Amino acid sequence: MKLPLIIGNWKMNHLTEEVKAFFSDLNSRPLPGTPWIAPQFIHLPLALEMKGEAKIGAQNCHFQNSGAFTGEIAPQALKDLGVDFTLIGHSERRSLFKESGDFLNQKVLSALAAGLTVVYCVGESLGERENGTTNSVVERQLDEGLKNLPATEKLIIAYEPVWAIGTGKTATPQQAQDTHTSIAKYLKNRDLDCPILYGGSVKPSNTAELMACPNIDGALVGGASLSSEDFYQILDKAHNLD
Ligand code: PGA
Repeated sequence: MKLPLIIGNWKMNHLTEEVKAFFSDLNSRPLPGTPWIAPQFIHLPLALEMKGEAKIGAQNCHFQNSGAFTGEIAPQALKDLGVDFTLIGHSERRSLFKESGDFLNQKVLSALAAGLTVVYCVGESLGERENGTTNSVVERQLDEGLKNLPATEKLIIAYEPVWAIGTGKTATPQQAQDTHTSIAKYLKNRDLDCPILYGGSVKPSNTAELMACPNIDGALVGGASLSSEDFYQILDKAHNLD
């Protein structure tokens, strides 16, 4: 995987015309690196059609490849469509949709088995940071989600402090780096070699200082990825650190 890696998570945003406008604009620029974009499921075919240099991913998937799971999306069906990656365990899935560690583990294993790259998200709440349990919370999430992991080159970790997501509050480079260092140590102990992305209010103005930190290999970007201009700026700044 070529680093730094900048992934846009559009969440439940954008209509057809906005998706078209985003890719038309991105495709008209000289890109400094490969953009990765995760639109809503319904826009995956359009995004795949217009992707240019981009890699296209899902924001979630089920762990079964077929069956009576009304309203769910199978990892194999995503792969079949041409999707490259999927997020798993985003904090909104954990908190709003009550996805447990065990459930997420099944999704990680199935998505990898289907041939998708998995971006497994972890991160602590404000309370957990304040009572000093950030590293143990993140380690528990890694233990749970990465149980029985096969050898793979298709795993990416995204560290997203929950208190920094969509709040405009970014972790300081020192806070981010401390947790990234702890995650890197954990991965090394398990003989896993995969990129670790930071997420949580990443924007053009804070990209350079975050991406300059050791052990920060890229960014998972929510709000600022909706604008092709901002997303391009983030991509550009991440690839052109002074
Ligand atoms: P944000 O979202 O950049 O809007 O904080 C990040 C994410 O949830 O992946």
